[in-house]
Amino acid sequence: MQPVKRVAIALLCTSTPLLAAPLFAAEDLFITQAEINQLTAAGKTQEAFDFAFEAGDELFEHNFIAAQGGGANVGNGQRFTLVPRADLTTEGAWATHFPARSTGPNAQSCATCHNLPFGDGAGDVSQNNIRDPEMTGDISKFINRQPPHIFGIGALQLLAEEMTTELQQQRDAALAKAQETGADVPISLVSKGVSFGTLIAQPDGFVITSAIDGIDSDLVLKPLEWKGLTGSVRAFVRDAGHNELGMQAVEITGPGQDGDGDGVADELSVGDITALTIYQAAQPRPVTRVELARLGLIEALSARETTQIARGAQVFASTGCNVCHIPQMTLENSVYSEPSQNALYRDALFPAKTDPVALGLSPALAITFDLTSDLPDNVIERQDGSVLRLGDFQTDDQGRGIVALFSDLKRHDMGPALAEAVAEKGIAANQFITQELWGVGSTPPYMHDGRATTLGEAIAWHGGEAAASVNDFRAASVEDKLALIAYLENLVLYKVEED
Ligand code: HEC
Ligand code: HEC
Repeated sequence: MQPVKRVAIALLCTSTPLLAAPLFAAEDLFITQAEINQLTAAGKTQEAFDFAFEAGDELFEHNFIAAQGGGANVGNGQRFTLVPRADLTTEGAWATHFPARSTGPNAQSCATCHNLPFGDGAGDVSQNNIRDPEMTGDISKFINRQPPHIFGIGALQLLAEEMTTELQQQRDAALAKAQETGADVPISLVSKGVSFGTLIAQPDGFVITSAIDGIDSDLVLKPLEWKGLTGSVRAFVRDAGHNELGMQAVEITGPGQDGDGDGVADELSVGDITALTIYQAAQPRPVTRVELARLGLIEALSARETTQIARGAQVFASTGCNVCHIPQMTLENSVYSEPSQNALYRDALFPAKTDPVALGLSPALAITFDLTSDLPDNVIERQDGSVLRLGDFQTDDQGRGIVALFSDLKRHDMGPALAEAVAEKGIAANQFITQELWGVGSTPPYMHDGRATTLGEAIAWHGGEAAASVNDFRAASVEDKLALIAYLENLVLYKVEED
């Protein structure tokens, strides 16, 4: 079948004046990078951000229909499948799609899976993602992924960018020293208080990385996904479009290419992916019940809960949870840029081998916003007329963004009980990145596959490198255990209803 181009939709877009109301009639959902660039090139930074954020919000919630490319030609006439179908190998069917799929498509919208306790939140086990990473068609080699919430992820990318820069500087300084002295230079890799093991720089420019820990050998930190597989929000979002929705971005298939055999090409433009990226990266920060009560946004906490939370903080530290779940890190620079100003967190070439700059996606025309002052959600007008920007990240006394993530952004061996049947993208079956605990009080069930229905069960499933910590927890008094759970339940998501 010849792919249908998005002609009708594109014509409607260009004939609609930019930013004219109403912005998004049903057929006017898609945008272009050129529309964004018109604004950034004119120095209209705020307008560019607002335009992309609004468009991304619409795209996130939209139920994509077949005519827009929603779903894929799975085979046997199906458009969606909850179960990977490596067995369907006829032309255009599941196993022949490009890029190759390991899952889905299994939903019509992003919001289907990220909706608990409200939009942009986490998912239930019924929204788990079932993947066949090795395309075997053998159900004993399938893996399960639970949808996490998306709050605060812009800050995760920025932390990763800063840590990567620091770690690579440490490596490069060691290499320079090795060359200068003609001898091997062993160094410890440490960034933001997290140790990533050691490496040895050699005079001939080689680096021995066998003793690095919890990070890839290129020292590029990838904070996203349960196994820490993806570095940038953009890279994740466009893969989600393809894998979950069957909405293939032109930057992954190439122009005019119908990679999922559904008769539609160019399903999401470069601008659409920019919009989704901005919308995701500008999600508000998670909060705490203590904070919400102090602000009068929820009922006052009972004296017992207040005491438990304070005691739980001590138990969290004394049982060593905080070794991996580091309560907070600070950002030197809290300005998010799409595309990133850091070459390691933007595409030199798109997956389709096309040039992003030639397609309008250039760091010189980036959309930028500050995570500590510009986040659109949870802006609350109070009765006294003052405005509370609860969505923004808080700052320390030096103006640096505080990211209360409860993670070290590092992968750990979690032991045989949590290990899966297969490795995923080269990451060992027992390795998972320390899941951020911000918002954890709002997002049951827990762990990478949703096997833990309560926080207590989630703790009990820890093994491997976390075994000592969990044994300490098991040995704690009942009061201490309850206090620790109250401390975790204090970490919640909050979102003010949109009009
Ligand atoms: C079928 C359910 C489902 C749909 C639909 C879905 N997601 Fe997800 N999402 C998941 C699961 C499961 C994960 C965890 C994947 C992993 O870690 O391996 C995830 C992870 C994410 C993450 C990474 C969060 C983190 O901290 O690692 C982002 C961002 C995200 N999704 C955005 C989207 C966007 C944007 C869309 C729509 C284009 C979308 N999702 C559609 C289930 C879904
Ligand atoms: C060695 C590092 C490490 C230590 C120590 C550790 N954790 Fe974890 N934690 C992880 C990893 C990795 C995951 C994700 C595991 C998975 O995906 O299956 C996780 C997941 C969790 C989750 C589930 C989060 C979610 O959203 O599903 C909770 C709750 C949790 N940890 C609490 C704790 C508590 C409480 C302690 C101390 C008693 C602790 N952890 C100690 C590494 C650690």
